[in-house]
Amino acid sequence: MKIQFSNLHVQHAQIRKEINRAIKTVIGKSNFILGEEVRLFEGEFARFCGTKYAVGVSSGTSALFLALKSLGIGQGDEVIVPAFTYIATAFAVSHTNAQPVFVDVDERTYNIDIDKLKKAITNKTKVIIPVHLYGQPAQMGEIMKIAKAHNVRVIEDAAQAHGAEIEIPQGAGWVKTGSIGDVGCFSFYPSKNLGAMGDGGMVVTNDKEIYQKIAMLRDCGRRSKYEHLVLGYNSRLDTLQAAVLRAKLKRLDAWNKMRQKAAVVYNSLLKDCDVIVPHVGPSVTHVYHVYAIRTKKRDMLFQEFAKKGIGVVIHYPVPLHLQKAYAQLGHRIGDLPVSERVSQEIISLPMYPHLKEADIKKVVKVIKSVL
Ligand SMILES: Cc1ncc(COP(=O)(O)O)c(C=O)c1O
Repeated sequence: MKIQFSNLHVQHAQIRKEINRAIKTVIGKSNFILGEEVRLFEGEFARFCGTKYAVGVSSGTSALFLALKSLGIGQGDEVIVPAFTYIATAFAVSHTNAQPVFVDVDERTYNIDIDKLKKAITNKTKVIIPVHLYGQPAQMGEIMKIAKAHNVRVIEDAAQAHGAEIEIPQGAGWVKTGSIGDVGCFSFYPSKNLGAMGDGGMVVTNDKEIYQKIAMLRDCGRRSKYEHLVLGYNSRLDTLQAAVLRAKLKRLDAWNKMRQKAAVVYNSLLKDCDVIVPHVGPSVTHVYHVYAIRTKKRDMLFQEFAKKGIGVVIHYPVPLHLQKAYAQLGHRIGDLPVSERVSQEIISLPMYPHLKEADIKKVVKVIKSVL
């Protein structure tokens, strides 16, 4: 029995002709650096998110780093990040020389805990980075209120949540992740809901000044070819990747719906099982980049899946405050108990748009046999 954790082959078979044509066009024009496809994709992605601007960058990590740089973040500043996320969220902060401040997550949604976030704010706090973990939006209404009250900026880490939606009370109704904070950051790592055929990322914003700064920073700080106004970086989105992503963006909503359908099947088959299935909070849609369940028998389950040839992943086995890379911060076990507990019990099951119901049944059968 072989069931992959994620399977890009089916997706690519569906759009192979269109992608081949798009790549051929780029090769024909040979405009590999910031070619027309990058500009077109930026416009399309901004429209998709409902923002005025979008800047294509080289990865989700660069998107976060450049967003922080555009806000002037550096030495002496504190940036709040959840302790339970992929480490790039915090690395982007550390590489600006600012200090990441880790906050525990909510036991049910695994997103940043609002009460603990309030307590973590100091007079050095400059930015909050909520992560829309696994594809479920964080509580952006609450986070924006806190940010406003303390005059801090918000950078959404939407690397796992392309197309997920949030209802903002007394606001703009349903809006897309990435469009609510001062800046939204996306990753196009191949297995993401919108994935390139290599690395890629995007920053979206409604703020013209932030947009102009990031557009300059990602392209060597230049105004014209050899006129460099600021210390910039080589962090551009590749034209070939933009061409691939344009073809995939057209299908993103449909593919997200297929993930949601697969999640409904998992939920119903796991109804009577002693596992915690994903909890979707009020006023959000979940796009299931990851379908993660929790059980105290996680390690046993993991071994059984490995034996049966079923691909599962632990997102994430070590919370950020206990990573060796952050040993200098002096955190200890017990500091952020929810993140620590979840990291011991969580396991991500196979999830991709074209996952078959028959395969979901096989996955659940293994879970039932172990539990
Ligand atoms: C939550 C989160 N933030 C940031 C990133 C970094 O994105 P990238 O791998 O494109 O640099 C990822 C991707 O893995 C992620 O999942």
